[in-house]
Amino acid sequence: MQSAPSAAMHRRDAQCIGIPRETFPLEKRVATVPDVVEKLIKLGFKVSIESGAGEAANFSDDAYRAAGAEVLPDAAALWAASDIVFKVRPPSEAEVGLMREGGTLIDFIWPAQNPELMQQLAAKKTTVLAIDCLPRTLSRAQKMDALTSTAGVSGYRAVIEAANAFGRYFNGQITAAGKVPPAKVFIAGAGVAGLAAIGTAANLGAIVRANDTRAEVADQVKSLGGEFVKVDYEEDGSGGGGYAKVMSEGFQAAQRKMYAEQAKDADIIITTALIPGKPAPKLITAEMVQSMKPGSVIVDMAAEQGGNCELTVPGEAVVRHGVTLIGYTDLASRLAKQSSTLYATNLLRLTEELCKAKDGVAVVNMEDEAIRGLTVVKDGAITWPAPPLKQAPAPAPKAAAAAVAEKKNGHGHGAARPCPPRR
Ligand code: NAI
Repeated sequence: MQSAPSAAMHRRDAQCIGIPRETFPLEKRVATVPDVVEKLIKLGFKVSIESGAGEAANFSDDAYRAAGAEVLPDAAALWAASDIVFKVRPPSEAEVGLMREGGTLIDFIWPAQNPELMQQLAAKKTTVLAIDCLPRTLSRAQKMDALTSTAGVSGYRAVIEAANAFGRYFNGQITAAGKVPPAKVFIAGAGVAGLAAIGTAANLGAIVRANDTRAEVADQVKSLGGEFVKVDYEEDGSGGGGYAKVMSEGFQAAQRKMYAEQAKDADIIITTALIPGKPAPKLITAEMVQSMKPGSVIVDMAAEQGGNCELTVPGEAVVRHGVTLIGYTDLASRLAKQSSTLYATNLLRLTEELCKAKDGVAVVNMEDEAIRGLTVVKDGAITWPAPPLKQAPAPAPKAAAAAVAEKKNGHGHGAARPCPPRR
């Protein structure tokens, strides 16, 4: 067994990366994991972690200690010791209060929805790298794309939640006790989460159908084992950069007709439809829910943005007309060990970009387009939104197909896309 990296590896002026325990209710994720701690130390950093930070994701204090981290007793000690803080959820006002003046924060921030937080961070003269603002079309940024890794885990978990609430097998079986038909799963929206859900449901043996307003995803749906169901109306929904646009009234009427037919036939519906900056499109009406077979399940992944289904209750699972409607908004946190590991790796890749000299000192280079895009506050000045990329490349179909093929093998995270604009 390799011994833990020793403190002697650090330069005297090495910066300390600190990981506090997440304080958002029910949040189970943690921003780094023991395997990644070792790699951060190899980059020359010191790593500190608040006691219990990894507990809900099944990483013990001892595991972090063995990897070379210092375990600090509470949040106050952790924030005070850290030059750079890694977090998952945007910080609360109390956490900003604990932050060092002039410190660096790497975190999900959602600047458009959190103007007050941005002001508080600026007032503390901080530098903030918002992982949700990564320019996703830059191919070298994909390794840092935490939105994609989070949506992938969540799409998988949506299927597991559906399977848990559904009273039958997913796969068809012929048994001595009789023939069991396969479950029929319909997925609305085939972005990152939708594609992960398609692959997972198909692997469990269900018949999977999917629809998206962007015709370009049809091949990706097929390559994951699903059937693409078209709306009988000629209009492409691509709004640029891999995101959707709001569709015409005519299209929406034709789509409602098709969804009504699918609702009657499907056992499970998983909705992931999202147009950045807009409320979630209402695709599943109360009438459609009523038309489903008793015991059917709907997982509405867009619950937090208002929901794709009229009857969704955000954050809850409810039964309406005999159909279980799941509106959980913490799907990634429900697979905390997996999502923490992927997020930790995304942040490690970012740290490698910030510390090319491997000397334990992070340099925020505003000339680098990926880093510029992420940096929403620099030394107390708000630098969000970043200017558009010099050469905003359209998502290359080849790259997208390759990513999906990789995903099929269990490695990839989906196609290249830009940062979702202000949700
Ligand atoms: P995405 O932007 O990759 O995918 C959304 C897809 O919906 C796109 O392919 C888009 O073309 C499609 N779409 C838009 N309007 C449509 C319409 N009218 N009909 C059919 N398709 C339409 O987004 P991503 O990352 O896959 O996330 C999907 C949803 O899941 C989002 O609402 C996101 O916030 C949510 N999410 C929820 C989590 C939870 O815990 N509940 C966790 C992670 C993501």
